[in-house]
Amino acid sequence: IVRVIIDVDTGIDDALTILYALKSKEIRVEGITTVFGNIDVDQATDNTLRIIQLADPGYDVPVARGADRPYKRSLTGFADSVHGENGIGNVKLPPASQTAVAESAAEFIVRMVNENPGEIVLVATGRMTNLAFALKLDEQLPFKVKSVAIMGGTVHAPGNVTPVAEANFWGDPEAADAVMQSGLPITMVGLDVTMRTHITQQHLDLLNRFGKEENKAIIAFMQQSLAHYFGFYTDSNNYIGSAPMHDPLTLLVAVDPGLVKTQTMKVSIDCGDSISAGMVVADLRTKPSMGRDIQVCVDVDAQRAERQFLSVFM
Ligand code: BDR
Ligand code: CA
Repeated sequence: IVRVIIDVDTGIDDALTILYALKSKEIRVEGITTVFGNIDVDQATDNTLRIIQLADPGYDVPVARGADRPYKRSLTGFADSVHGENGIGNVKLPPASQTAVAESAAEFIVRMVNENPGEIVLVATGRMTNLAFALKLDEQLPFKVKSVAIMGGTVHAPGNVTPVAEANFWGDPEAADAVMQSGLPITMVGLDVTMRTHITQQHLDLLNRFGKEENKAIIAFMQQSLAHYFGFYTDSNNYIGSAPMHDPLTLLVAVDPGLVKTQTMKVSIDCGDSISAGMVVADLRTKPSMGRDIQVCVDVDAQRAERQFLSVFM
């Protein structure tokens, strides 16, 4: 059993990640923390609570609200063209009966990690802002977590907000760099691999046919929210009935690192305001010296990852 805290900006693919985590028998979700990003943090928190209720009204997973703006710079905007105005493809889910806890996301992460040294796997699928604040509260955090999987950045693939920057790092470069330089045991699950794993209409057809009865409402939600996500990817990437599994893949890798091939790289994040803001600068020289070592995913067993994702709903 892998004990995870998932940090999300619940968005469509974040929602799929939460649903997978709550359905997987290999994962214990110790808490979910929220951050601005795809939408504002209140909407992200509300979406998260509704998604937990959709997974199972009986679940009692603490949800802690986090940062409402970047670590150091000012907020620029949200991604409603990607995820819809409400962040979950404009699908209306019933309001949740559960509410968020009083602790902030950063406080929650720090307390949980300190109460369970060496046990907690952090999975971050939004801006890195909450992790940056958690590190500020406890700079020994890197020595107490089990591992950290981050959806963000890209080394070899193009960016998705600018030619070189991925949304989660672009939206808060200073937080991303603080996390990268912290010494946390990071696996970066960036566009290099997330763009190679897809959830498709064929997968949804399979789920509709073979999904467990108890998961019917979840599968209906996936179908509706992904219709929006597929539409965005048709406009942006010419995909038909298909979208990358950015955030779900990150959780899958956190639980099963064997799904990917990684390379140790020293990386820094461009914290300027130029065209390359938010870019991952990997020092690929023979004798790298800039930035701190992290594991960067460079290849993925896409078929196995996609099958694994579907399996918990069938
Ligand atoms: C990331 O950006 C967000 O829109 C997605 O939820 C994912 O975390 C992909 O760049
Ligand atoms: Ca996300």
